[in-house]
Amino acid sequence: MCGIVGCILKENKDVAPILFSCISKLEYRGYDSIGIATYDNTINVKKGKGDIETVNENLNFEDMKGDLGIAHTRWASTGRPTDANAHPHMDNSQSVAVVHNGTLENYTDLKEELIEEGFTFKSTTDSEVIPNLIKKFMEKGKSLEDALRKTTEKLKGSYAIVAISKDEPDKLVATRKDSPLIVAYGEKGYFVASDTPAVLEYARDVIRPDECEVAVLTKDGIEIHDKNGENVKWESKYIDWTPEMAQKEGHPHFMIKEIIEQSEAVKNTLGQKANIQKIIDEIGDVKRICFVACGTSYHASITGKYLIESMAGIACDVVIASESKYTARTWDEDTLVIFISQSGETYDSRMALKEARKTSKTLAIVNVAGSAMTDEAEFVIQTQAGPEIGVAATKTYIAQLTAIYLFAGLLSKNGELIEELNKVPAYIDEAVKERETIKELSKMYTFAENIFYLGRGFSYPIALEGALKLKEITYIHAEAYPAGELKHGPLALIDEKVPVIVVVPPGEDYDKTMTHIEEVKARGAIVLCVGAKGDEKIAENSKEIIGINPEVTDIIAPLVYTVPLQLVSYYVTIEKGYNPDKPRNLAKVITV
Ligand code: F6R
Repeated sequence: MCGIVGCILKENKDVAPILFSCISKLEYRGYDSIGIATYDNTINVKKGKGDIETVNENLNFEDMKGDLGIAHTRWASTGRPTDANAHPHMDNSQSVAVVHNGTLENYTDLKEELIEEGFTFKSTTDSEVIPNLIKKFMEKGKSLEDALRKTTEKLKGSYAIVAISKDEPDKLVATRKDSPLIVAYGEKGYFVASDTPAVLEYARDVIRPDECEVAVLTKDGIEIHDKNGENVKWESKYIDWTPEMAQKEGHPHFMIKEIIEQSEAVKNTLGQKANIQKIIDEIGDVKRICFVACGTSYHASITGKYLIESMAGIACDVVIASESKYTARTWDEDTLVIFISQSGETYDSRMALKEARKTSKTLAIVNVAGSAMTDEAEFVIQTQAGPEIGVAATKTYIAQLTAIYLFAGLLSKNGELIEELNKVPAYIDEAVKERETIKELSKMYTFAENIFYLGRGFSYPIALEGALKLKEITYIHAEAYPAGELKHGPLALIDEKVPVIVVVPPGEDYDKTMTHIEEVKARGAIVLCVGAKGDEKIAENSKEIIGINPEVTDIIAPLVYTVPLQLVSYYVTIEKGYNPDKPRNLAKVITV
């Protein structure tokens, strides 16, 4: 999983500072190494292991000459993060340079074939076969574009590729299969990139080439060609996100900025009400709904199931995308399959979407405009969280929930719920204001080795999300359980060394949850309750309490109670000295 960028300027100015600025915006796609290649009579490459700023301090990318070039930020999948494995990769004769995002399943076979033909390799990546294959086809008389096409015929797996060659130094060529790639244009020139935030500062008109089409960018413009090399008529979409929206705006980390922005994300997503009603009308009657998603988006899906089953009375399943193949066999024309994904690019979800389209109506709830799933699903709800840079999903999650609440409320004609949603931004802002208190109490969790999260009903997905956020950024082991399930085994793990965080809003499950607090307290657990401000019963039964506006009851709790748990994870991470925006081993977009 990586970020790629290519640019050709209309005027003869140096492209390297623009490439550097664009690739810096894609650091959330990977950050273990970075590289840039530009053409200036010959192809110059600078690349190295490390994050973008550190590598730039050592190599000074902005010094590079040339008015066209390519850039890459890497998240290692094949081959360790090293200088040699950083992209761009070049062919043996140093005349073709390539950046690649994706995974090639048959690269070892291709590499062996090339080695037999006398090629040598400098890296242990799958990607290095690509420039060598392109060069091989060019030597047989193919143009750069045709050589790229011939090369992709040999590749198995996923890829977005941008290539330049000193034999055709006036252009960039790019193509994709199962990996994201956008083409864009602006005043200064023409761009390709993995994702729109990369280019927003320079280009807002964005084209999304179809699988296996080839984009050819020259100083005169953009052409998109189909697999036979014929011109494809393309249309662009104007993207109105501002570049400032993608900056930290004075906050120490994107994550805290994005937590604070959640009330805005809810307000903006509530603006989708009319669109969502239109989609519900177009979908018509369905007998069954199945949610498919991964990670945090899976937790949003569980909330969706509870809402739709309790309010619309429609049977609902929730399935993790990578485990959906058996459930997929039960989908039919009366099933609506809902895909939830902030990135709209998650490989597992996209593969399940491909399957669902064969039998069922499909709806994608996605944050990134123009992402793959927005093209692939029959119906699309775009959440309005804006760009999320922190790897851990926060505001995109709350925006997903908002879209699901609107969907469930409109589907079940529950006007009261829709009304209630308008109050959520204020509840979130109140919860965010408690952050100094949460920062203080988070200190006591810094040394925990295991933490349990408990909730019943609508509070169960809150607990799940709290635990996931904690483990991914603090590296503390955390488990979430439906509170009633604890006594069926995991209670054996509870003792005085295990903090237990209980989500206990006012509502249907309140009394039962209080009995579970008794259960863990009796085993010596240190209990932190997230509950209604001023609730004395909770205060008596727990060591610490995070108070939420008492008007927030169980049904809308996921939209509000999630916030303090995000803050706990954030402050524990800061206390432990880790960077919450870039958790180890993880990346923002999982296209493998
Ligand atoms: C956790 C997180 C991941 C994603 C998951 C799915 O903070 O962000 O668990 O939720 O990788 O990603 P999307 O929503 O892009 O499909």
